[in-house]
Amino acid sequence: MAGGATLLVCGAPNQTPISASRYHRTMRTPLMAGNWKMFKTPAETTEFFEKFVPLVAKADHAEIAICPPFINIPAAVAGAKGSKVTIGGQNCYWVNKEGAFTGEVNAPMLKAAGCTWVIIGHSERRQFFGETDATVFQRTTAALEAGIKPIVCVGELLAERESGQTNEVLKTQFMGGIAPLTPEQFAQVVIAYEPVWAIGTGKVATPEIAQDAHRVIRSLAGEKFGAEAAAAVLILYGGSVKPDNVAGLMAQPDIDGALVGGASLKPEDFAGVVNFQ
Ligand code: PGA
Repeated sequence: MAGGATLLVCGAPNQTPISASRYHRTMRTPLMAGNWKMFKTPAETTEFFEKFVPLVAKADHAEIAICPPFINIPAAVAGAKGSKVTIGGQNCYWVNKEGAFTGEVNAPMLKAAGCTWVIIGHSERRQFFGETDATVFQRTTAALEAGIKPIVCVGELLAERESGQTNEVLKTQFMGGIAPLTPEQFAQVVIAYEPVWAIGTGKVATPEIAQDAHRVIRSLAGEKFGAEAAAAVLILYGGSVKPDNVAGLMAQPDIDGALVGGASLKPEDFAGVVNFQ
């Protein structure tokens, strides 16, 4: 969007339009995050980092994160040591005090294991594991209290996009999972827009479609937390990001990085995404 263009805060017709230039990415350092989902063993994790770390040694333009399965976090932390690559979990429980919760991992454990980030509310967790906006909010606050930065995912299903509900879905997810945070908590959060129809399908959202959704999310942030907070929050795009489509996405003013599944599993591919410019 051109520097002088203006952007109305959605749903607030009486408010002064916020200058789009105040929202531009020059204020934000991109984050390129890999979501490994349920892939790789500890040995394969070590092998990945041996190859990947040298390939991104000169990447000063972005922060880099890898979120492996819990079992691989120690190998990832060891592999990333001495580099600028940071590590995250893919979920955390919402109780930070240790206790009888078989199968769960909490945010203080992630912190103690060397994690910086945790992905919260990924669409696969929403679809297959009963994640709701309410539990997204609970997990997000738990992560923040433990000093872990949440990457909170939102995004619409194909049917929702096709029936023209995208903005409504984004608003509902934002209001339920993110808006109840305090301004101080919101300042620590990264948002990822991941249209479900683009995840693992090879169907990347066009840069324009993604930009539209990112602008809606940033406007929601502006309405709730004010222009400064909206201008500062990182909004990542996720869904079939690859080395050959990342630059077009990153050229959009409201796209601040990528959450990458499939293409984060191969060192060369993820390095190609990180080194997009
Ligand atoms: P994909 O996954 O890059 O394989 O589409 C993205 C994600 O689910 O985070």
